[in-house]
Amino acid sequence: MMILVKSGGEGAMPEWRAAFRDVAPHLDVRGWHEPGIDADDVRYVFCWEPEPGRLATFRNLRLICSSGAGVEHITRDPDWPRAVPLVRMGAAETARQMAEYVALAALSLLRDAKRLSIAQAERRWDDSLSPRTAGETHAGVLGLGNLGTPTASMLRDIGFVTAGWSRSRKAIPGVESFVGPEELDAFLARTDILVCLLPDTPHTRGLIDARRLSRLRRGAGLINVGRGTHVVMRDLIAALDSGHLSGAVLDVFETEPLPPDDPAWVHPRIVVTPHIASSPSRRARAAYVAEAIAAFERGDRLPNLYDPDRGY
Ligand code: NDP
Ligand code: OXD
Repeated sequence: MMILVKSGGEGAMPEWRAAFRDVAPHLDVRGWHEPGIDADDVRYVFCWEPEPGRLATFRNLRLICSSGAGVEHITRDPDWPRAVPLVRMGAAETARQMAEYVALAALSLLRDAKRLSIAQAERRWDDSLSPRTAGETHAGVLGLGNLGTPTASMLRDIGFVTAGWSRSRKAIPGVESFVGPEELDAFLARTDILVCLLPDTPHTRGLIDARRLSRLRRGAGLINVGRGTHVVMRDLIAALDSGHLSGAVLDVFETEPLPPDDPAWVHPRIVVTPHIASSPSRRARAAYVAEAIAAFERGDRLPNLYDPDRGY
C-alpha cells in the first residue's frame, strides 16, 4: 500500500521512512518527487503544500492526511479531490506545544520582553516598567478547537482571566464563552491579550482589522498563531504605532517565509517567529497518520476530519 509523502523536503524522507516503519511497516513510503512512481498506485498522501493539480492525478487515492492542523494549503487547489476524506494533523504534541508557545508569548507581552531585549541590545538599564500580573489581565482566544481549548485552559491555569470565541457555545471550566459575530465586539472589549487560533476560512480572513483592533482594551497585545490571512498587517502596524496596541507576537504570515524586507522584522513592538508555534516531531506525526490510516482501513470514524461545509 503506497503512501506518498511531501513534508519537510526530500531530506526528511529517511526520517519519515524510519518513523512509518516503526508504526505501519506494511506501508510503502515514497517521496513526492521520487522518480518512477505510478500515480495509480498511490493510496494515501501525507502532505504540506502540494502543488495545485497533483492530488487530482491520483485516481485511486483513498485518504489525504495534512501534515499541519490547517488544511487551506490543500483546499486552495481548485482541483483537490473533494470526495477523498481529508484528515487534519492532531497529534497530541500539537496541542501541548501550541499551549506552551502561547503561554510564553502571553507572559512576554505581559512583561514587555521585547522592550527589555531592545534595551539589552543597546546596553541600556531600563527599569521603568511597572509589571502587572496575569490575574489583572484578560486573555481572549479566538477559536476554541483542538488547539484553542488547551491553550485557553493553560492561560487560565497561569492566572489570566480567560475567555474564548467560537462558532458554537463551549463549557470550558473557568473560560468564558463568546459565540458568533454578534458577541465578537463584547469579547474584544474585555480583552488585553488577543490570541488567534482560528482556521483560514472565508469568514475568518481579514477578521483582525482596524475596527476589531480598536475594540480591544488600550495597551492590548496580539498573538497570531492561526494564519497570516487573519490579520490586516497595515492595520496592526498602525495600531502599534499609535500606542493603542503595546505589542504583537506573530508566528504566521500571508507570505512564508516572511520576505527580508517585510516591516514586521524590524518593528520595535513585534516579535517574529517562523511558523514554529506547534511543530510536532516526525515520529509523533507518523504515528498519528498511521492511526488514521488504520481507522480508515477498519472503517472506523476518522479523527479530525475536514468538513467542506464548515470550511475547517
Ligand atoms: P479546530 O478546527 O479544531 O478549531 C477551530 C476553532 O475555530 C473552533 O473552535 C471553531 O468553532 C472556531 N471557528 C472557526 N470558524 C469560526 C468562525 N467563523 N467564527 C468563530 N469561530 C470559528 O482547529 P485547530 O484548533 O486544530 O487549529 C486551528 C488553526 O491553528 C489551524 O487551522 C491553523 O491555521 C493554526 N495552526 C497553527 C500552527 C502554528 O504552528 N502556528 C500549528 C497548527 C495549527 P467551533 O468549535 O464552534 O466549530
Ligand atoms: C499548521 C501546522 O497548520 O503547522 O500551521 O500544523
